[in-house]
Amino acid sequence: MSDPQFVLAARVQAALAAAFGPSYADSDPVIRPSQFADLQANVALPLAKKLQAERGEKQNPRAVAQEIVDHLEVSDLVANVEISGPGFINLTLSDAWIAGEAQGVLADARLGVPRSGAPQRVVVEYSSPNVAKEMHVGHLRTTIVGDSIARILDFLGHDVIRDNHVGDWGTPFGMLIEHLLDVGVDAAERDDSSVSDLTAFYQAARAKFDSEPAFAGRARRRVVALQAGDAETMRLWQILVDVSTRYFNTVYERLGVTLTDADIKGESFYNDALAPTVAELEAKGIAVVSEGALCAFPPGFTGREGEPLPVIIRKSDGGYNYSTTDLATIRYRVDTEDVQRMIYVVGAPQALHFQMVFAVSRMAGWLGDEVRAEHAQIGNVLGVDGKILRTRAGGTVKLAELLDEAVERAGRAYDEHARDDTIDGAERADIVEKVGIGAVKYADLSVSRDSEYIFDLDRMTSFKGNTGPYLQYATVRIRSIFRKGGVSPDDALGPILVAHEAERALALRLLTFGTVLEQAAETAEPHRLANYVFELAQDYTTFFENCPVLKAPDETTKQSRLALCAATLRTLSTGLDLLGVPTPERM
Ligand code: ARG
Repeated sequence: MSDPQFVLAARVQAALAAAFGPSYADSDPVIRPSQFADLQANVALPLAKKLQAERGEKQNPRAVAQEIVDHLEVSDLVANVEISGPGFINLTLSDAWIAGEAQGVLADARLGVPRSGAPQRVVVEYSSPNVAKEMHVGHLRTTIVGDSIARILDFLGHDVIRDNHVGDWGTPFGMLIEHLLDVGVDAAERDDSSVSDLTAFYQAARAKFDSEPAFAGRARRRVVALQAGDAETMRLWQILVDVSTRYFNTVYERLGVTLTDADIKGESFYNDALAPTVAELEAKGIAVVSEGALCAFPPGFTGREGEPLPVIIRKSDGGYNYSTTDLATIRYRVDTEDVQRMIYVVGAPQALHFQMVFAVSRMAGWLGDEVRAEHAQIGNVLGVDGKILRTRAGGTVKLAELLDEAVERAGRAYDEHARDDTIDGAERADIVEKVGIGAVKYADLSVSRDSEYIFDLDRMTSFKGNTGPYLQYATVRIRSIFRKGGVSPDDALGPILVAHEAERALALRLLTFGTVLEQAAETAEPHRLANYVFELAQDYTTFFENCPVLKAPDETTKQSRLALCAATLRTLSTGLDLLGVPTPERM
């Protein structure tokens, strides 16, 4: 990897070893961005203290810094070394080194990003909508963020298991199946709105359940039949699952989400594993009967009065819980899927649930040092009024309608923005769809996933600022240079030279793509990648405004700038693709 921060860290460590002995070889060289140079090594200050303790006499950090510099071998990549202030070592990279490394990025099919040296099998659980319920904007967010996390891990060479933990089991299915019988199974087959309008279907079932005792009785008996695996009941249940799956897939397709039917492992999938999971927890003495229910009490979780908080594993009526399914899921992933990491991309309100389920799993020995589980929390989506996003009537916002509105708004923003007039109606429609969807996805990904954000279509679809359309347009602008110059980006081979400040900044940015991806993967935070892509586009804009490409002063400069354009285009497109943001060829 050519990230100068790492290259320099290794060199400073070598200097530390040479100056003070091999035991200093893995001290943290404290490399930081610098105001006065590209980077600075701040290790001399903590090191002076350490040496003072060892040598028993006062050590001047500036002298320690000088000793490091005397042993520092960086002439191949650093143009200037300077000791400043109390002992900071300022390091200015050489233009030739930056240019050479950028050339390496250009020449590498992976843009200088290595595959992980320690690939893991990772479950990324995301989207997880509920059968017979409309997906809401919270599911939109878990879907978009989870998909990007999965794409990034994939790219880094991990073995990713995408997992859609659909809510397809439990007591509501009694009333839903009975309501399906009332409406008629053929209505589902015809895709009639009495069934396919999931919100209306659910509400109608609920209303009958609450007001008609006979219906409620049928629903309860149906739950028993479902849990017993009665064939006819399972057939009806499957019809409901299929209607919902078709609906989920239309949303995934429109969003360009990589989930397929094969990734669905809903709650029902773990039904047969619940009893053995509970038996294991009982055998290990973790699950105990408390007030008729079987509970686990993970240490450290207490209620308001300091009383231990239970995870209810089996209710007093013998039924299992949401938590039981999650425990069975973890056990399955560890025992059968043999995963090393599980990332749950789920709303922040479920934080306590996951903490407690993870704690019980650690007690059971399913999670430990070798297997890591983490809740990648997703913050709420708010309306422009700062409250949870709702329709004007106060209902939950339908996803499809939200996306339609985004595309419509994108169309207006696009038409106002100077557009290419050789583009016909069909291409415009395709572009506008990509801009609208890209705007929504990018807005979601560019804020840290656990913070709330305001769903403001005007801001999201703007071509200015940190938005999807701005980034899409940056790629289009690069493509148009190649089109105008009659050159293919694949033929822009350089060599890259760095002379102008804007060329230098752009080339330097290209070198840190891999580090950013690794950090985003480690923390399951795609906004780090979004920020990088935005910074890269800004660096490109400065370059574009200052450094003519096709009208460069000479042929060597032109070839170098075309190569910088090509490397930027590929890095931007790859970055946006890993965010799941589509990029039109023209706009
Ligand atoms: N279906 C749930 C919901 O819509 C989310 C499931 C989250 N995943 C889990 N393993 N509990 O809220």
